[in-house]
Amino acid sequence: MTAISHRVPLPFTTERLVLRLFTTDDLDDMYAYQGLDEVARYLPRSALTRDQCAQSLARRATGTAWAEDGDDLVLAVCRADVPGVVGEIVLKLASPHERQAEIGWIFNPAYGGRGYAAEAARAAASLAFDALGIHRLYARLDALNTASVRVCERLGMRREAHLVENHLDGDRWGDEYIYATLASERKDVAPTA
Ligand SMILES: CC(C)(COP(=O)(O)OP(=O)(O)OC[C@H]1O[C@@H](n2cnc3c(N)ncnc32)[C@H](O)[C@@H]1OP(=O)(O)O)[C@@H](O)C(=O)NCCC(=O)NCCS
Repeated sequence: MTAISHRVPLPFTTERLVLRLFTTDDLDDMYAYQGLDEVARYLPRSALTRDQCAQSLARRATGTAWAEDGDDLVLAVCRADVPGVVGEIVLKLASPHERQAEIGWIFNPAYGGRGYAAEAARAAASLAFDALGIHRLYARLDALNTASVRVCERLGMRREAHLVENHLDGDRWGDEYIYATLASERKDVAPTA
């Protein structure tokens, strides 16, 4: 397996946050948010059990590949001055040949409303473009996920698609937004409060 950590300058520090790889010691912190139904509300899967979180961390401890469609880099987001994980950012390779990647974010609601998600996402976008050479970075979200919409817009991403009733969320037909940013638009990737 080709590890990408050598291609990405980690840990990566922002004004208030540190982005790093997860370790198996992060289980309690990860389960604290991944185990919540409210966090999984707009994710295409249920909340995770503690065992699922442990398995995910164990898998990641063996290395992270970045070569094939679907390979992902999952970054633990910590506050610079306090130990513990407050959320995560995922960069998933969608097309190696076309250098496209999907970005996603999941944060512990206990640390919501402070701009951490937008700050971490901006840092991850920098890593995607500068360290990983991505051409196009995009996000897909349920149109009802207004908090996530705001993160995209704070990053200056363009809403480039509104897919109508393209997925089932239980019994509800959900709409999806696709937001994107190109490497050539980088100057626009700047969060505002
Ligand atoms: C999506 C998600 C990460 C957004 O979290 P969030 O807390 O709303 O986003 P941020 O951390 O960027 O915080 C933004 C808020 O902090 C406020 N804020 C407070 N202090 C701030 C500061 N110093 N700097 C910047 N913003 C600040 C902003 O004004 C903003 O408030 P608003 O949302 O009322 O406009 C979170 O809702 C989540 O994890 N949801 C569940 C998982 C999910 O659905 N993921 C997306 C799947 S597509």
